[in-house]
Amino acid sequence: MRYTDEVIEEVREKNDIVDVISQYVRLQRKGSSYFGLCPFHNEKSPSFSVSPDKQMFYCFGCGKGGNVFTFLMEYENYTFQESIRFLADRAGVKLPEEDTSREAQARSDRRSRLLEINKKAAEFYFRRLRTPGGEVGMNYLKGRGLSDETIRGFGLGYSGKYSGDLYKFLKQQGYPDALMKDSGLFSYDEKRGFTDKFWNRVMFPIMDANSRVIGFGGRVMGDAKPKYLNSPETEIFDKSRNLYGLNVARRSRRKNLIICEGYMDVIAMHQAGWTNAVASLGTALTSQQCALLNRFTKEVLVIYDMDGAGTKAALRAIPMLREAGLNTKVVNLRPHKDPDEFIRTEGPEAFEKRLEEAENSFLFVVRSLENDYNMNDPGERSAFFHEVSKKLLELPDEIERTSYVEAVASRYRIDSELLTRQINKEALRGVGRTEASVPKKMLSRSQIKEENKDKEQKLMLTWLTEWPQLIPRMKDLLSPEDFTNAMYREVAELAWVQAEKTGKISPAVILNHFEDSESQTEAASLFNTHILLDGDEEKRKAFFDVYCKMKRKSLDTRSKTMDLTDMQGFMAVMDERRKLDQLIAAGLPEDLFRF
Ligand code: GTP
Ligand code: MN
Repeated sequence: MRYTDEVIEEVREKNDIVDVISQYVRLQRKGSSYFGLCPFHNEKSPSFSVSPDKQMFYCFGCGKGGNVFTFLMEYENYTFQESIRFLADRAGVKLPEEDTSREAQARSDRRSRLLEINKKAAEFYFRRLRTPGGEVGMNYLKGRGLSDETIRGFGLGYSGKYSGDLYKFLKQQGYPDALMKDSGLFSYDEKRGFTDKFWNRVMFPIMDANSRVIGFGGRVMGDAKPKYLNSPETEIFDKSRNLYGLNVARRSRRKNLIICEGYMDVIAMHQAGWTNAVASLGTALTSQQCALLNRFTKEVLVIYDMDGAGTKAALRAIPMLREAGLNTKVVNLRPHKDPDEFIRTEGPEAFEKRLEEAENSFLFVVRSLENDYNMNDPGERSAFFHEVSKKLLELPDEIERTSYVEAVASRYRIDSELLTRQINKEALRGVGRTEASVPKKMLSRSQIKEENKDKEQKLMLTWLTEWPQLIPRMKDLLSPEDFTNAMYREVAELAWVQAEKTGKISPAVILNHFEDSESQTEAASLFNTHILLDGDEEKRKAFFDVYCKMKRKSLDTRSKTMDLTDMQGFMAVMDERRKLDQLIAAGLPEDLFRF
């Protein structure tokens, strides 16, 4: 299903991570590492590090990290295989054909065949729109104010009156039924065979960021239901990882991206000159889409429909965009419903004005909250400030928080010091919320929690990478089994094998074993969990301390999860407990932890 480990390793070795990343990020040497501004989140001072020794990158701000493959997977949205091919090409490594197994070959063939079918379908609908039979579709689109150029630019089409035309067309082109079944373009049942999923609809091809057609939205031309029919998710169509219009918007020169709800809204805005507009694909915004946006911009303008549902969707999207590191503003189009309607009735200048007046997302949240309270009632008014304090507390950046305290105080005519006191009270009250009062820049709540979970195990892996000579010395004290988190254990097992074979641990090689970028990032964090230590003695103490804590937890976990009848296992844990107690009683051993 993939290239052999040797090939992957050869490609990795021939692509120095500093060289590769330097083509995307300006790096400056500081000690043994290079630093630059993180391309995966918005920051003003560099916390993105690249280590030539470890051949890894790691961002201390957002926690993204990995090896050279991970970097390309994150930055270019490549798959693992694609990043291997790209780097092989870059370094002139010839990838052996036979190394891609038949299965992998078949899968990538299938993907490209599915892309091909979708593209063929798009061309079919596109031509249909321009035949006499497609006149209804063309009239509909023209009636909605779209120019020829816009219709062509978005590749809009029409799916014909009869529900078998596309099937016939693709059949003639020689596509096998098995592939058509998986294309998302047809319904299939035993009795009737294939029927076109889309008929008598105007068609919006949905493209990925690289302009490849991956699915369709089809709109009825009247009031029938459902108004839009979308392709189902397929091997090539992941609704949570793509955005309508992004293929164009990514090249727009504007300083931000606009996120809206509808295909028609995107099209209307592009036609009016805002080629930076995108929309989600008939579902609520996802965190992957936020991450995708973050690759192309630092600021997002949210324009959701001016109704209850739109406001709700915006309130849901705002914290997600913030967690992705995006600066977010909300646009008000009232009394109109959506951008399409607004531009058609008020024109582009008025629209521009509304964009300029976009409200900071935090103040938008506060204002929406206000609607839930009767501000003339003293009790409700104070309940409102209670809620606002909680929201303020969620802001990770202290400077930002202070400026919103001021803004809220002045808007609601309340003393800002009173509000600050309220926030501090709130901070003490909330369990697990106090970390917000010691702001960790750009780390989301869940990241902070995650960061502290199994911290000892992470530290241990980072340290063992730096001092692999400890592994043989600690043979009786520590084994991969002591890592209770399944993923950490997997990493530890790989590390142990390496240390045994080569006396070294190479994190970048270990990362090759994880195919998706999320697991790679998580694994990378295992090699980058630092605490600052001065001097060898302090290091030795810290190491000892971490070792004891980790071992204790691991033994606890093992006895908790052990089969009650497993007498031998029980004895083994007892034995280890005794050893640990002895070790602790004796204090820091003189000879053992020397680096
Ligand atoms: P117009 O009504 O033609 O202006 O379209 P619109 O793009 O403004 O759509 P609207 O604001 O009603 O809906 C926003 C988005 O939600 C659409 O672009 C679709 O992606 C999705 N959507 C709307 N109606 C339906 C539906 O009936 N079914 C599905 N699956 N998705 C829908
Ligand atoms: Mn609309």
